[in-house]
Amino acid sequence: MISIQGVSKKYGKFTAVDDINLEIKKGEIFGFLGPNGAGKTTTLKMMTGLLKINSGKISIGGFDISKEPLEVKKIIGYIPDRPYIYEKLTGKEFLDFVAGIYHVPYEKKEAKIKNLLLLFELDKWGDELIESYSLGMKQKIVMASNILHDPEVYIVDEPMVGLDPKSAKIVKEIFIDLGKAGKTLFISTHSLEIVETLCNNIGIIMNGKMVVKGTFKEVKEMAKTEKTGLEDIFLSLTGAPDLSNVLEHIK
Ligand SMILES: Nc1ncnc2c1ncn2[C@@H]1O[C@H](COP(=O)(O)OP(=O)(O)OP(=O)(O)O)[C@@H](O)[C@H]1O
Ligand SMILES: [Mg+2]
Repeated sequence: MISIQGVSKKYGKFTAVDDINLEIKKGEIFGFLGPNGAGKTTTLKMMTGLLKINSGKISIGGFDISKEPLEVKKIIGYIPDRPYIYEKLTGKEFLDFVAGIYHVPYEKKEAKIKNLLLLFELDKWGDELIESYSLGMKQKIVMASNILHDPEVYIVDEPMVGLDPKSAKIVKEIFIDLGKAGKTLFISTHSLEIVETLCNNIGIIMNGKMVVKGTFKEVKEMAKTEKTGLEDIFLSLTGAPDLSNVLEHIK
């Protein structure tokens, strides 16, 4: 469903993503991990057509994002790390606008919008301007707007940042259900718990390069650590922090 072949991205002379390859099957929930600045958001932005690819090729659902961007955009939902949305619309107006863009059938639209606002506990806020929403509420309305148009592929950047524990639980359940419904999810996250409970396959990117990819078991074998938790595996692959002089530095 998602094919990333030899993809690189440079910002000026700096290579942010360096020749990465990934194949994600339909119905897979893929966890994309890596330290801050590793190249995750850059990769997601190339997948969605927001950033131009320097070399290589990305196709989603058989469509090349560089050659057929509209076809790709019809079948994907993108939940970015920061929710930039139309602040002067109310929550309901924004969802109605998205439903219009994606041709959500008129007879289904009203009920869907109502149910999604209820699901994300935004029903009391539907008629308020988005500019009055908190960060977590904005993230939830973006998530609702994606589910509304029922994409085949979800591309999600840091879904849990800003969400309270109850909302995070709701989102986790939604992801599980979407996976069961055969949707493909590509999730960039720092939440190792999300990855352990949700993802069939994981990939770790570091300094723009894919360090490992595969199932949890395969990644563990590559990590050469006796420990079994994903945190230890992640630290073993990406480097554990030196905590010996922390107090010296903050004195
Ligand atoms: N617009 C830009 N111009 C120049 N450099 C950029 C730009 N966007 C990102 N970078 C650089 O590219 C690298 C990868 O950034 P990216 O945002 O993809 O990382 P990330 O893996 O998403 O990190 P995080 O976990 O902090 O979100 C970083 O070194 C960053 O400084
Ligand atoms: Mg990022």
